[in-house]
Amino acid sequence: MNTGTPRIEINEVGPRDGLQIEKTFVATDDKVALVDALSDCGFARIEVTSFTSPKAIPALADAQEVMRRIRRRPGVVYTALVPNIRGLERALEVGTDEMNLVMSSSETHNRANLRMTRDQSQAELTAILQAAKGSHVPCNVSLSTVFGCPFDGDVPVGEVLRLATQLVEAGATGITLCDTTGMAYPTQVAALCEAVSRALPGLPITIHLHNTRGMALANAIAAWQTGVTRFDAAAGGLGGCPFAPGASGNVNTEELVHMFECMGVRTGVSLQPLLDIVQGLPQLVQREFSTPLLAAGPRLATHQPPAWLAEKFGPTQTPA
Ligand code: COA
Ligand code: ZN
Repeated sequence: MNTGTPRIEINEVGPRDGLQIEKTFVATDDKVALVDALSDCGFARIEVTSFTSPKAIPALADAQEVMRRIRRRPGVVYTALVPNIRGLERALEVGTDEMNLVMSSSETHNRANLRMTRDQSQAELTAILQAAKGSHVPCNVSLSTVFGCPFDGDVPVGEVLRLATQLVEAGATGITLCDTTGMAYPTQVAALCEAVSRALPGLPITIHLHNTRGMALANAIAAWQTGVTRFDAAAGGLGGCPFAPGASGNVNTEELVHMFECMGVRTGVSLQPLLDIVQGLPQLVQREFSTPLLAAGPRLATHQPPAWLAEKFGPTQTPA
């Protein structure tokens, strides 16, 4: 039994999930600078970009240049989203460490997002997994909409298990359970994480949460309590799928880090450099948005009491 300090791993997806939905095109230099700054925060993984069609995701049309130009910090795994064989080829050309293949567990979102049926996507991903074997690059698969689809509603657990099992048999090295539009709730998250780990024992499971309905941190705890230790998150709570109506941001990385560190769970991520990055995000994406933790500061960033307290009561100290 592992009795050491509990640890989780965070995959920072802001440069991919975060920027893919932004209306302002972030200049390539600025994307590279963002990833380089994130590299110094201590993340296990950074999802740098996506090798998708530039017509589908114009915001990340410079994927190859970004991946080529980032500084590779030893120990950080640099991943990218890959939807098809063409994407795999582009990702391999620029030395992507790990592929994040993607398809939806619901039929309508898969068609809207990837312009393929689920069967076509599954065949495409199986071909990618086959092709990637020669290059020995690990291929995780992100299954979208597993906690609900904005078009089809609830997705049967059996469908998620069927797709996950077939993709793992085809060579997937891990599965990410994605709550694409924040439809998940904690007991559902726990039940699905448990069902997947029962069906595929030992498989690395990552949870990918969006805070669309304010339940992302609660869902993270629910997943963690079942033994999940890998989390996707986006700095500043950026993010969302452009082909899912009502999509909004990922779980805030800084909130996830702060919460787990308060609980004595090590994330490996240094909060202050991350908050410094978050502070610059509104300027990067050219729009204002609120980041509560940045405004409030970490929980023990205490304040000077008003001067009149000392005048009236003398010096105070809370007994230890
Ligand atoms: N990288 C670059 N270009 C690609 C590409 C890739 N991975 N895949 C296809 N293309 C290009 C084709 O060359 C073609 O270009 P052309 O019109 O200049 O000839 C064009 O895109 C259309 O190709 P096609 O194979 O017909 O793709 P499609 O239009 O059916 O779209 C996807 C399929 C998967 C490529 C597209 O839907 C996509 O990239 N989706 C990503 C969605 C996403 O990232 N969502 C958010 C994350 S969940
Ligand atoms: Zn997402």
